[in-house]
Amino acid sequence: METTIFIFLLFLGIVLISHVEARAPFACNPKHSGTRGYPFCNTKLPVADRVKDLIGRLTLQEKVALLVDNAAAIPRLGIQDYEWWSEALHGVSDVGPGTKFGGRFRGATSFPQVITTASSFNASLWEEIGRVVSDEARAMYNGGAGGLTYWSPNVNILRDPRWGRGQETPGEDPMLAGKYAAMYVRGLQGTDGERLKVAASCKHYTAYDLDNWSGVDRFHFNAQVTKQDIVDTFDVPFRECVMEGKVASVMCSYNQVNGIPTCADPRLLRGTIRGAWRLNGYIVSDCDSVGVFYSNQHYTSTPEEAAADAIKAGLDLDCGPFLGIHTEEAIKKGLLTEADVDSALTNTLTVQMRLGMFDGPPSAQPYGHLGPADVCSPAHQDLALEAARQGIVLLKNHGDGPTLPLSRIRHRTVAVIGPNSDVTVTMIGNYAGIACGYTTPVQGIERYAKVIHQEGCANVGCNDDRQFGAAVTAAAQADATILVMGLDQSIEAEFRDRTGLLLPGRQQELVSKVAAASRGPTVLVLMSGGPVDVSFAKNDPRVSAIVWAGYPGQAGGQAIADVLFGTTNPGGKLPMTWYPQEYLENLPMTNMAMRSGKDYPGRTYRFYEGPVVYPFGYGLSYTHFTHTIADAPLEVVVPLDGHRRTNASADGKAIRVTHARCNQLSLSVQVDVKNHGARDGAHTILVYSRPPGGGQWAPRKQLVAFEKVHVPAGSQQRVSVHIHVCKYLSVVDKSGIRRIPLGDHSIHIGAAIHSVSLKPQTLGVIKS
Ligand SMILES: *[C@@H]1O[C@H](CO)[C@@H](O)[C@H](O)[C@H]1NC(C)=O
Ligand SMILES: *[C@@H]1O[C@H](CO)[C@@H](O)[C@H](O)[C@H]1NC(C)=O
Ligand SMILES: *[C@@H]1O[C@H](CO)[C@@H](O)[C@H](O)[C@H]1NC(C)=O
Repeated sequence: METTIFIFLLFLGIVLISHVEARAPFACNPKHSGTRGYPFCNTKLPVADRVKDLIGRLTLQEKVALLVDNAAAIPRLGIQDYEWWSEALHGVSDVGPGTKFGGRFRGATSFPQVITTASSFNASLWEEIGRVVSDEARAMYNGGAGGLTYWSPNVNILRDPRWGRGQETPGEDPMLAGKYAAMYVRGLQGTDGERLKVAASCKHYTAYDLDNWSGVDRFHFNAQVTKQDIVDTFDVPFRECVMEGKVASVMCSYNQVNGIPTCADPRLLRGTIRGAWRLNGYIVSDCDSVGVFYSNQHYTSTPEEAAADAIKAGLDLDCGPFLGIHTEEAIKKGLLTEADVDSALTNTLTVQMRLGMFDGPPSAQPYGHLGPADVCSPAHQDLALEAARQGIVLLKNHGDGPTLPLSRIRHRTVAVIGPNSDVTVTMIGNYAGIACGYTTPVQGIERYAKVIHQEGCANVGCNDDRQFGAAVTAAAQADATILVMGLDQSIEAEFRDRTGLLLPGRQQELVSKVAAASRGPTVLVLMSGGPVDVSFAKNDPRVSAIVWAGYPGQAGGQAIADVLFGTTNPGGKLPMTWYPQEYLENLPMTNMAMRSGKDYPGRTYRFYEGPVVYPFGYGLSYTHFTHTIADAPLEVVVPLDGHRRTNASADGKAIRVTHARCNQLSLSVQVDVKNHGARDGAHTILVYSRPPGGGQWAPRKQLVAFEKVHVPAGSQQRVSVHIHVCKYLSVVDKSGIRRIPLGDHSIHIGAAIHSVSLKPQTLGVIKS
């Protein structure tokens, strides 16, 4: 009897393993003579016709079963079931049910967390990571282990430093986040016309950056946001994701914006995303967010109304079962029509067609050759290491002359201390998968020096000083001391916002004690997603260097060691302001205002003028760069839309962006970057502008372009920077209208300042 069971299990095992070998076609299997002849399977027809044909064959019940992430099979049409929910924030992840590791796919390349990758300010790196991640995703799909629809990236603005998910984002600046979104999405989706390599999704639209703070959670939060802040700040990354990145999906969020759940707001979904930005793709809910606005927010009195509101607002797919359960009844009650459902399905099925899911076997398609050997390949793992090196930010480097880089000759024995000194999964942050392998900081540093290792604290919570003595002893014996401290997911995570910005528990005390006892220089390495107020270490002369590693990914320990010992010259810059703890004193996380008010300070470098620990864009190098503006126009003429030509003055001293001819309208600045040191290095040129008039509309300054350039020691490089006039030299007025202020815009690059005058084409009619 038992033998029979064993043989059965063995047989089952073989069946399961062979199932992973190669995926059967999702639809239009050439082996099924009965179904392959349908027009929707005919790759020679336009996608729109194929989608129409397919929808025309579906019953209402079949349609409704396709409105959810766990979309049902339609066996009579030869269509398999499909799980829409997969994640690939910084590597293929198994957070969503659509992707599973095991068998021939034991892990995937785990890149640094996004906040770290953003710190590289290297747009081509972002695209390259997307390309590699989608190679691995396609390989896993071909092997039956992954999906093709990835709900990444997260491009919400990091508005408040406490946000537990700030780590997932490219930071606080709209232009930076927009560029990241467009580049990462291009990398994921490929640039092969309408065909999609995988489908990305920019999330969570919009004004979502509170998880669980002081009794308020994202399932109940009603974000009160001005029109000005929506257009000026929160919309920008999504606009760029859709219009520049051509993303195949946008996800709406859990929270309400001004009293309406985002997934039920037709102005946001149909109006902005599909109307103004022309999304070519589908809009998906956050997981169970339709259920959430019915059950938690009591936004509608019946579930059928919730289903109808969501679909009529423009939602095409529900992550969760809600629409599958209530949509048919909503139609019966007359709250919704079958045509509304057809329109939602048109959007989802079009994406599936563009992915090739109706083109027969994956193996016969453009990405069909990708397989297990393309996952965790040496080249991919090297890129994860390279990304970590490029993202690490050097915040302090003092001492008797610069402390860093350490020397293999003078620092033969190094004390490596701290709760993050030998960590693995901490380095990959959240929305991660299973890494191919890890190099911890201790392992990385061991490649350069003899290590004396002490944890110092049992975990980042660091609630007692039991291990402090051993740490202090280690520091007293070594030629140099490296403390690897900071946060992890127990402090900042999804559904876990921070309460303060200081290092947790007694970490600060450990750092100070160890620094005081250290025989050699003391280096503080921080792992965290959000900013940390480390003023104590910044001001402590015995802490001679500070490095922020973010969450540096699977190869993080190697990258940290490479920076500390000078194999890599750090070039990362902070993508967010590091505020002092006092910043939070009178600032509830629920206050969404970007601009300062009578009782609150304003948010991000664009609007906050108070003291900081380290500013946005900060980051040192082992060499010294200067830049000069070599050439830039003194004047830019803004061409106007034909109908407006006669009355450029209609809006006072600013032209509505919608009245200007924006195509190709860019301002080019030539910048000379000189490396004065003895080491090669990469330098990021951050170009800010300060618009004329300022006052009520404008930020104090805003990033309008950036460019990263590698400059060999002692040499100079000329860099061309292009500023998109309509997008970035514009400001948003109180009614949410984007306008280009006329007059002198001041362009700042470090200490270099250049003034450029913006004039309308029809100068004659301007009145002041
Ligand atoms: C929200 O945070 C509070 C306090 O930190 C915690 O007690 C609660 O469980 C959290 N809620 C959820 C749903 O995680
Ligand atoms: C031009 O704009 C001004 C200010 O809004 C308005 O009063 C005037 O009627 C406009 N003239 C024309 C020709 O449209
Ligand atoms: C940007 O990243 C790419 C990919 O890693 C790299 O080849 C390039 O050198 C980087 N650019 C700079 C200026 O560091």
